[in-house]
Amino acid sequence: MEEYWLKIFESDLYINEMLKIWEEGEKWANWINEVIKKYGIKGRRVLDVPCGIGRVSYFLNKLGYSITGVDISEKMIKKAKENVKEGEFVRGDMRKLSEVIKEKYDVVINIFNSLGYYEEEDDLKILRELREVTSQEGIVIVNLENRDFVIYNKPEILHSFVPPYLIIDQNKFDPFTSRLHVLRTYIKDGKEVEKIEFSQRYYSLHEIVSLMKKAGFKIIDVFSGYSWEKFEINDPQMTLLAKPS
Ligand SMILES: C[S@@+](CC[C@H](N)C(=O)[O-])C[C@H]1O[C@@H](n2cnc3c(N)ncnc32)[C@H](O)[C@@H]1O
Repeated sequence: MEEYWLKIFESDLYINEMLKIWEEGEKWANWINEVIKKYGIKGRRVLDVPCGIGRVSYFLNKLGYSITGVDISEKMIKKAKENVKEGEFVRGDMRKLSEVIKEKYDVVINIFNSLGYYEEEDDLKILRELREVTSQEGIVIVNLENRDFVIYNKPEILHSFVPPYLIIDQNKFDPFTSRLHVLRTYIKDGKEVEKIEFSQRYYSLHEIVSLMKKAGFKIIDVFSGYSWEKFEINDPQMTLLAKPS
């Protein structure tokens, strides 16, 4: 399973997908800036894990935050360095974050459904690592798609056009494992050129809350995406704000 993910994260297609949502990074950054003010977080050092192409970091940096980003994909790190000249970006595995990050941060962000790629124990490891690098007065922001929304709303077949490819995703949710299985077919000039299969674990709020508590966090609030609306069961996304317990 892991090899598929790594292949996906190193692909130009994935970078394209990230570029398509670049502008959303500004909305995230503005909201995170408000969170930092509202919750009285003093420092301005942000750790963005995983940082992808740096779309949130770029705007946070423009708001005056100093940025460190970590991502497992070499391509993502290269793009992030190009995009955020003043940031510091390191290639690393968030499951072993403390191997590359030795300092504590005031704000640690894990944005855009970036858990669930591996097994649940790995997510617990990641959360423990995030806890390790969060200063005692700091805050962690975790944003995930909501399983309870996904099971009823994710289309079974999804088409997207990322030139030169037509991509067809066949999605199937497995209630036993809570993983969404995707069979992805790439079509170019009317011919199938590649097929890959991957799956991601989705969490309901109570599950991720329990995992975060186990990792040493106390949850202070949960919102719907990057909004000030309190999270409700039908919302597509949940954004958890937590502090070290
Ligand atoms: C959905 S993207 C989100 C990126 C960024 N947070 C954003 O909002 O644009 C997920 C990212 O997780 C990275 N990733 C996956 N597994 C990782 C791991 N074990 N350690 C570090 N990064 C990882 C991928 O390379 C990819 O850039």
